[in-house]
Amino acid sequence: MIQKIAVLTSGGDAPGMNAAIRAVVRTAIYHGIAVMGVRYGYQGLIDDDIFPMESRDVANIIQMGGTMLKTARSKDFMTEEGRSKAAANLKKHGVEGLVVIGGDGSFRGACALHAEHQMPIIGIPGTIDKDISGTDYTIGFDTAVNTAIEAIDKIRDTAAAHDRLFIIEVMGRDAGYIALNSGIATGAESVLVPERITNVERVAAMIDYDQKRRKNVHIIVVAEGDDFGAEPLTHVLQHKFPAMEIRHTVLGHIQRGGSPTYYDRVQASRLGYHAVLALKEGKSQEMVGIVNNHIAFAHMDSVVKKHQPIDDDLLDMVRVLSS
Ligand code: F6P
Repeated sequence: MIQKIAVLTSGGDAPGMNAAIRAVVRTAIYHGIAVMGVRYGYQGLIDDDIFPMESRDVANIIQMGGTMLKTARSKDFMTEEGRSKAAANLKKHGVEGLVVIGGDGSFRGACALHAEHQMPIIGIPGTIDKDISGTDYTIGFDTAVNTAIEAIDKIRDTAAAHDRLFIIEVMGRDAGYIALNSGIATGAESVLVPERITNVERVAAMIDYDQKRRKNVHIIVVAEGDDFGAEPLTHVLQHKFPAMEIRHTVLGHIQRGGSPTYYDRVQASRLGYHAVLALKEGKSQEMVGIVNNHIAFAHMDSVVKKHQPIDDDLLDMVRVLSS
């Protein structure tokens, strides 16, 4: 049986990562498996920032945002030399299996480490962007959407007070899930996502129509990866509607922080628990995800190629429900 594993968080942090770390550490110890923590993700593997963890080390963290293991986007790990150093350090500590909590870039790194050094690895999807296939859930998405909703609700108050149009940029890299879900939940008039080409004339026609029927408050939620972009859109619309007061807000990194929601705490705990059981059963190079509320495994190679498609039905709904 596997005797010792290590756990790391890599890439952008996401609320709920601490709940997953806690679950990994406690499940492993419960099953008599020693656990090493790795600070700063793959960079910590290269720099030998690896330390033994006990159950008490993960006390009082389930409610905290960020990651107690710290995280990084390691350039060194993208090289074969970096990965060789990482593998040598894992070997030195007697680590026989690794749990990687991160997004698609982290999984690509995990695939390379496994291919070159045969290290058994289980991935846990941890990203606010939800841009990974093979799972309905990624750690942090729920909290990030709720944070965006809270901010957009506040913006709507002031937008309504002044009869203004707000263009609000949310995170998501090349995925539109945060935009779509926060847009629906806040009654946005339009949602622009990277998965669809933005038609500015169409957006302008909707604003024009709304103005004519005295619908003066307008919220447009734009994903940061949208092909047209929130800032250029602000300029174009201001030019088309000179009498309107248009404001542009970028929500930014507040979406990455904060105490995780109940949902992120529970689901991240499930994933951490099952990641350890998977390593114990001899699984490797798989991501543990959640599909239809059941634990599901997918080959790590397959989940990073594309994310799940955006639902047209939800995009169509945005306009109907805000009419
Ligand atoms: O992947 C998470 C994410 O927050 C993306 O939504 C965003 O594009 C990116 O990370 C921002 O990265 P950084 O924190 O390095 O600016």
